[in-house]
Amino acid sequence: MLAEDNLIKEYKRTHPGSQKLHERAVKVFAANGATHQSRILNPFRPYITHAKGSRKWDVDGNEYIDFVMGHGALILGHSHPAIVKAVQEQMAKGVHYGENHELEVEWAELIKSMLPMAERVEFCSCGQEANIMAIRLGRTFTGRRKVLRFEENFHGWADELVHEGSAGVVANEVNIIPFNNLNRLEEELAKKEYAVLLTEGGGAHMDGQVPIDIDFVRALSDLAHKYGTIWALDEVVTGFRDAPGGWQSMVGVKPDLTTLGKCVGGGLHVGAVAGRSDIMEALNPETPLERRVEHTGTWNANPLLSSAGVAACKLYRGGEPQKVARQRANYLREKGNKALKERSINGRLYSRTIVHFYLGPIDYEPSDDTMPPTRDIKKIMAPAAAAMRNRLCVHLLQRGIATMYGERFILSGAHTKEDIDQTIEAFGDSLDAMIAEGTLSRA
Ligand SMILES: Cc1ncc(COP(=O)(O)O)c(C=O)c1O
Repeated sequence: MLAEDNLIKEYKRTHPGSQKLHERAVKVFAANGATHQSRILNPFRPYITHAKGSRKWDVDGNEYIDFVMGHGALILGHSHPAIVKAVQEQMAKGVHYGENHELEVEWAELIKSMLPMAERVEFCSCGQEANIMAIRLGRTFTGRRKVLRFEENFHGWADELVHEGSAGVVANEVNIIPFNNLNRLEEELAKKEYAVLLTEGGGAHMDGQVPIDIDFVRALSDLAHKYGTIWALDEVVTGFRDAPGGWQSMVGVKPDLTTLGKCVGGGLHVGAVAGRSDIMEALNPETPLERRVEHTGTWNANPLLSSAGVAACKLYRGGEPQKVARQRANYLREKGNKALKERSINGRLYSRTIVHFYLGPIDYEPSDDTMPPTRDIKKIMAPAAAAMRNRLCVHLLQRGIATMYGERFILSGAHTKEDIDQTIEAFGDSLDAMIAEGTLSRA
């Protein structure tokens, strides 16, 4: 406990400006001073003044290698010159015409060129809005009401998307079942009650903290169609992060609808639904009222956002930023796992360009490091492991590394090999400090 106090004391000593802002923030933001639950930390996360490439700086002049990367939206890194140029130029020409404009068409065409399933595209303001729209479209097309989702899959905080049991939620038409179990899924779909099967691309919790079996994913489309259900794949995180064709191109699946967000906006807020034209025809004003989906939204594809989206999608098309992010992630996993093994710590880094940190029993050694060393969801999501990772998060911040919860290292094309070397050093030092203070034990 004494050691814990020392870390927090030292963190506060080196972050006085952030502490002052945190003290102001708790008086306005009920969530312990934070504006998103992932920005809550004991004692507080740093307050950032600016960012560039793979780095960001706080009000006290501390520099961080950033692995939060705008909650995964910044596969290009911070302030990529092409995005800055596009946005600055557009800013001077007008932010919002309240009219149609060429950039939105170009943006949708770019998305179409990367996603073969995208016969039509519709823009909205964020990822969860896209999921809401996908559900509406599915209901309208099938004439059914119910939505089928999988445990642990995250899709946003709206009623039909949020975790089961969240306060204030009315979602009578949503059923959540375990995943990676085809028999269980078929049993449910066979009731022929479901309009939409919604699935998180890449696995649950940001591109596979809880992995999804590839054979299971490949069966989803046929199984859903067999029972008249629309399959919507949520690629809000994975869309254009994993590959120019999205995660679906890597596993070889074709959903009826794909929802997009994050990277698609080049760092500005966006949501989009892409998919089959017969389903999206419900947005056509000539469709009879009883089969028409209404869609408004002040910020949909506004010129400023579209300018960033176009610039970003042009860069995604060639696959270069994704390739660099993959290389850096591979290197981070390789070196990080070596550091864990050298210290006999039961833990592994795994997955793809969002590197997850598993802490817990090693049930088996996977053939490659895209998978965690257990198939037990309870072990992956164990609260005790989350508490340890939160502690690691403070240790890493103190050493100039910003992660999400100490659990995720979100890579970008802007991270360099030197960034990763520096990160591994800080990771090793943090593990040693935690062993010394008794907050982490060897196997
Ligand atoms: C898989 C997934 N879907 C949807 C969302 C919601 O996106 P937004 O926060 O843009 O509404 C998120 C957000 O993290 C997500 O991870």
